[in-house]
Amino acid sequence: MKSLPKIELHLHLEGAAQPGFVRALAADKHVDLSGIFDERGAYAYDGFVDFLRVYEAATSVLESPEDYARLTTSVLEGLAEHGVIYAETFVSPDFCGGGDLAAWRDYLAAMQEASAAIEAQGGPILKGIVTPIRHFGPERAKAPAMCAAETAGDWIVGFGMGGDENRGHPRDFTWAFDCAREAGLRLTNHAGEWRGPSSIRESIEDLGVERIGHGVRAIEDPALVDYLAAAGIVLEVCPGSNVALGVYPDWNAHPIAKLRDAGVKVTVSTDDPPFFHTTMSHEYARLADAFGWTEEDFAALNRVAAEAAFCDETTRSAIL
Ligand code: ADE
Ligand code: ZN
Repeated sequence: MKSLPKIELHLHLEGAAQPGFVRALAADKHVDLSGIFDERGAYAYDGFVDFLRVYEAATSVLESPEDYARLTTSVLEGLAEHGVIYAETFVSPDFCGGGDLAAWRDYLAAMQEASAAIEAQGGPILKGIVTPIRHFGPERAKAPAMCAAETAGDWIVGFGMGGDENRGHPRDFTWAFDCAREAGLRLTNHAGEWRGPSSIRESIEDLGVERIGHGVRAIEDPALVDYLAAAGIVLEVCPGSNVALGVYPDWNAHPIAKLRDAGVKVTVSTDDPPFFHTTMSHEYARLADAFGWTEEDFAALNRVAAEAAFCDETTRSAIL
């Protein structure tokens, strides 16, 4: 599975930090993060809300553009090992300078430079999606939206909200999404992971997104499944994440195959790979085991992902 070329559209940059990387930074800075690891050194959390706490604690040691440059390099080296040729990563100005535009520009330049260096060596292409954090509330989503609008371009290609889906409604964030759309950014939103079909409908109707992060709980509403298929809305499905966080009890119970077979455009990503003990090769191997997917299925999956990528046409033709 490692050698198959792969495209991943849903990857949180901090969520892709290996525990060893975070521990080394914490040791350098004399920060005690022992409470977020288990006895074997893996990230330890109990359920989704606790996962978000551990995620933010791990992220707290990433304090400078240099830290984000090192993280970007380390993540891209890991993706290359699993045959990833193109990835889109969620990054938040909330974590990169606290929403300040000048600071965000410095963080962004560091990530972009690290990503260009890896790409120049023939490694994966990386693009960024600016992320407001839903549980920080709608007011705090405005600064990331303005940072996104100011830095939209070749590397920042999208805007998409993550965080606790159980807090508030998509419509609370229309200002931020309108601001990003007006700057030419493509839009996605985490929905249908912790809440049901209405959350997906609201994201499409109230925020105007063209992709949905997760979206798997659409399966609970056949009319919505038909609508997603007809409208060509793309789902950024992260099966290993869903199983690890308990959205579904196991891979066989996951609806990705049913969604695909109903005509919905599904793609596959890892979300926060070390948190969920996964990689893109692992996702492919589990999909082959659970649903009998073959190399042909994976090639088709990647074509859908390449078409749905937020990059420009030159990059798209390079990854198709
Ligand atoms: N941030 C990082 N991973 C996430 C997930 N699975 N859902 C929502 N927000 C996230
Ligand atoms: Zn996510």
